[in-house]
Formats: sequence, C-alpha cells, structure tokens
Amino acid sequence: MKNMIRAIVLGILALNISCQSKTQQKEQHNKENTAKDSTSNWNIKDWHSQSNAREMRPEHLSLAISVNFEKHQIKGSATWNLNPKEGTKKAIFDTRQMHIDSVLYADGTPAEFKMGKTDSILGTPLKIDLKPNTKQVKIFYTTDKDAQALQWLTPEQTFGKKYPYLYTQGESIYTRTWIPSPDSPGWRFSYDAEVKVPKNLLALMSATNPQTKNKKGVYHFKMKHKIPAYLMALAVGDIAFKAVDERTGVYAEPAVLDKAYHELDGLGDLVDTAESLYGKYRWGRYDVLILPSGFPMGGMENPRLTFATPTILAGDKSLVNVIAHELAHSWSGNLITGATWNDFWLNEGITTYIERRISEANHGKDYAAMLWSLSEKLMEKNIQQLGKNSVDTQLKEELKGRDPDAGFTDIPYEKGSAFILKIEQVVGRKKLDKFLNTYFDTFAFQSMSTDHFLHYLNKNLLNGHKDWKKEIDAHDWVYGKGMPPNYPEIHNPRFEKVDQQVAEFLKGTSAGELETTDWSTYEWLRFLRKLPDGLSLSQMKDLDDAFDLTDTGNSEIADMWYLHAIQSKYKKAYPNMKEFLYVTGRVKFLEPLYRAMMKTDSGKEMAEDIYQKARPNYHPLARKSVDHILGE
Ligand code: BES
Ligand code: ZN
Repeated sequence: MKNMIRAIVLGILALNISCQSKTQQKEQHNKENTAKDSTSNWNIKDWHSQSNAREMRPEHLSLAISVNFEKHQIKGSATWNLNPKEGTKKAIFDTRQMHIDSVLYADGTPAEFKMGKTDSILGTPLKIDLKPNTKQVKIFYTTDKDAQALQWLTPEQTFGKKYPYLYTQGESIYTRTWIPSPDSPGWRFSYDAEVKVPKNLLALMSATNPQTKNKKGVYHFKMKHKIPAYLMALAVGDIAFKAVDERTGVYAEPAVLDKAYHELDGLGDLVDTAESLYGKYRWGRYDVLILPSGFPMGGMENPRLTFATPTILAGDKSLVNVIAHELAHSWSGNLITGATWNDFWLNEGITTYIERRISEANHGKDYAAMLWSLSEKLMEKNIQQLGKNSVDTQLKEELKGRDPDAGFTDIPYEKGSAFILKIEQVVGRKKLDKFLNTYFDTFAFQSMSTDHFLHYLNKNLLNGHKDWKKEIDAHDWVYGKGMPPNYPEIHNPRFEKVDQQVAEFLKGTSAGELETTDWSTYEWLRFLRKLPDGLSLSQMKDLDDAFDLTDTGNSEIADMWYLHAIQSKYKKAYPNMKEFLYVTGRVKFLEPLYRAMMKTDSGKEMAEDIYQKARPNYHPLARKSVDHILGE
C-alpha cells in the first residue's frame, strides 16, 4: 500500500498546504492546545469518520455474530450502549459495503433509521433516531461479500489445506465494513462478543481468548479496556495454541505451530524487556497469531493478540523484530492512540523507536545501529520518491479528503522514530525514558493529537532548556518537509564492514572470497541494498553459487534478491520468485517486485502472468495495491 499512495499524492491541495506559513500553522496548533483531564473531551475533528461519537458517546459494544463461510458473510447484531450528551437526537455510525437489516431500542421496539449519502472513501453513515432516554441501540446487519476488512480463505490457501479461514484487518478505516461502529482512532469503547463459527474451527479476537476448540463452535470474548474501532479483530480457522509462559503464547494452524513456537519461544522475555523499559504491560495476556501466507501486513497490533505474517518464520529468530514492533504498540498506539490518521506517526514513529530499543536490549548497540541505518536509507529513498517538498514528507500528515492509507508511507515510521532518537541524543536516554514512562501513565487508554504531544513534550521534558529546544527543533521535524536538517548521528561499525565487502565485490573479488562469516539478516540486507541495480548475469551467478540466495528461507533476503533477479533478468531465480509471489500476500514484499517487473516489456508480461494466478490469494488491500501498480 505504501507505494500505491505515492502515485496518488501531489495535487493542488498539497501545494496549498505547503504554502501555509509557519506562523499560520503555529496559531492553528495553539488553538487546539487546551488540555483537559481526559483527551476524549478534546474537540478533535476526525475527517475519516462520519460518526457523531462525541455526542452519542457509544461506550460499550456487545457483538453477537455468526460466520458463514459458504456465503462469505458475517451476520448478527451490534448492540451499542450509549451515554448521549443532552439534546443528542441521532446516533450516527460508520458503515461501508454493509446491509443494515433492522435497529431496535433496548425495550425491543424498532428504531427509525436511514442510510446517509455514500462517500467513496468514508462509506455510508447509518443514522438512528434517538429518543430522549435512549441508552442502547441494537443494530442487525449483514456484511457484504466484498467487505474490505475480511479475507476469506479457501482450504487451499491455508497451511493445513483442509479447512477454510477468515481474518479481519481493521486499520485504517475497515472495521466499518464488518461492524457498524464509531470508526475513528479518536473514540474508544470496551466490548464483549459471542461468535458462532463452524464446528472444528476456533475463533479468536483482540480480547480474552479461548485456547482450545469447543464442540458447539460458539465462543465468548471480553475486552474490558477501551480501544478504538480499528483494533477490533477476529480470526477463525483450524487454529491451535502453545503456551510460551504464563502470560504469552502462540496460536497457529497445527501444520506450522511447532515452527511458530520455535521462532517465538522468546516471547515472554520480549514482554519482560518492553516492561523494563516502558512500564507495566497493561493488557493481561500477550499472544501472537501466525496467519496464513496471504496476510497483507508484517504484523498488526490487535490488543492481546498480535496478528503476524508467517514470513517472519525464518528459522533463526532473525525477523522477530516485527513482533517486538507489534508488542511495542501495546504502549504507543494501543495505550495512547493517535487521535486522527493525521497523527499516525504518534503510533508508528514512537513504536518503531521502542522496537529498536527492545532490539538493542536483546542484541546490543551495534545490532540496533544496523536497524537505524537501514531506517535512514528507507527514509531518504521515500523522501526522494515523494518529492522533498511533498506534504506527505511531514510527520503530521494532511489526509483530509484523501484515503487515510495514503499516509501509510515510510515517513511516520522512519522519520517518526528518528525524531524520538534525536530527542534521546539531545536530552539523554534517562530523561527521555522517564518522560515516555510518565507519558504512557498519564494518557493511558486515551487518544492523543500531535499538537498535544508537542505541547506535553515542551512542558514536561524541554521546559527551561532553550538550547535543547533549539537543537531538537521539534516543529521542523513535525511540520517541516523533506530530510530533517539535524538527523541523529548513527555510528554503525557492522555496516562499515559490509560496505567494504560490497566495494571488494564490485572491484572484481569473487563472491566466495568475501568476508561474510556471522552476518545477520541485516548485514545481508545492507549488502543486497548496496549492490547497484542491473548486476551482470555472471555477477548474479557468482553471488548465488557462493551464498545460495535463490534458495534462502529468509523472506526479507529473498525479496531483495528477487528484485536484483528481475533487474538483471537472472532467470534461475524466477521459479522460486513466482512461488513466493503466489503464496505471499505481504504488501511490503509484493510492491517492489511487481513494480520492478513493470519496467520492461518482458517483465510486464511476467507480472501479468503471475498476478493472474496470485490475485485470488491476496487480501483485498493487497489487490487494491497491486491492481494499481499493474494498471499504471
Ligand atoms: N499498524 C501497522 C500495520 C498497519 C499500518 C495496518 C497502517 C494498516 C495501516 C503495524 O504495526 C506495522 O507497522 N506493521 C509493519 C511491521 C514492521 C514495521 C516491523 C508491517 O506490517 O510491515
Ligand atoms: Zn506499527
């Protein structure tokens, strides 16, 4: 998705915004800076929700649904407990591609409702009349077979090949395609659910979860903490569980459970490490669900149950940082949530910083430095692609009137985490950690806007330190475009060695003579990234013979290697690459490969050929992205 967006971006809107002066921007921010006790009282406008959540105040959801694999349909009811502000006449919920069957009040009498005008991005608001004392509405609904949040897998698309599978992906604004909801990251609610599924299948949610199947196929869930709608999640399939310790464990299809357990048996330690850095883990259990290969993300931070791609199962724990990342969202993102999609960097930037701190705690400074360096390169490349004056290179995004997925670039991740690293380097690690701990305590289970964050940062960390403020220049990081002028310093001895080997190879030293002993995944990634596009066939063959790259079991390395194979027309790698593209739905891997193929006529043909076979295996969101690339 990240790339899809780049193409859509620049427009008159963007130009207008970039012309806004710094003073104008500052004034606007100051207006918003009126801190009250609870951030749910803040008057923050989320352009991507049509719900009047702040008036009708839907505080708890009771879901009762059944999952129909024949019809590709979820059917049931969403009962919302409301606490409406005085005088609120309507309850407006976000919906999209969904049929509303009926609506009842608590006493069982029917409620008047109508569907508003459909917006191509936001969907169709459901408007329910409220009586003066209405405290509950029960919405009966049926999902559409094309609901964007849902991926229905045939048995062939699973590891076990015997049972179908369903999972949801709510972020950014897809929950409204399977639950009529106040679908804004700025509104939170608790929930319970009853979910009926075919016998032989287990259901899991972002809530308290069963660990074994039951005979009836009826499962009950509770999430007592308030969460935003995009963190609603459901998975249904032939799933088994293996505990790591008392509070962590792994769910996966039986066919991959052992492999998953082997990769993730350090899960308990990971949570301990995160806690030692940023305070108590507040969600009870932390489990990971390994999904079938079609999962479009690396990971998704659904509370209590991270959803993860099986492409992290490299066999040597080298890609566990994806889990560290999703776990880190238990603080930044899930505990404190960016109030609108413009504040997405508050979720992803702080999380990426914490992810690297966890990696550093477990593997040392030099190891983390590699992650930081790769991050810097990603950011540079992304800024180049977006254009250094593009509004999309700002941390605080400008997504009004646009698909919020347009903001899903490398910027919120890499520029966002580098901003926090910059603060660390200026004020010192101890002070930053103390600040973050207090921040998580103060605003736990609330939403946060960028401007409030900056206000809080200034007041609680930088206050009285003019030199720090100047050196950091937070305003420029957050509202400035392009590369930040004061990018943090990264000392990276391990990559220096890799770069020497790249130079050696390009000078003519054969691959077998390069010094690559004990290289981690990240050294290999650096090596492959540093090699220029269009290596000669003999260079490709030399590398492959020496390092067996075509047959690597590491998805990150495979992806980079296939990219070189396409650019060099190195056909030996094609069969494995095709296999990879048929089964893997992770957008981050698909986009660069399809994009590279589309650059030549013969490549185009190959891309169309592969996609024809692969498309049914991809999640609707991955299809949206690859459709766009092939349609260009
Ligand atoms: N929350 C994101 C996934 C996401 C972002 C879904 C935007 C929908 C819209 C998740 O935490 C994430 O960042 N995943 C990364 C992991 C990586 C950065 C370690 C991914 O999927 O690649
Ligand atoms: Zn994330």
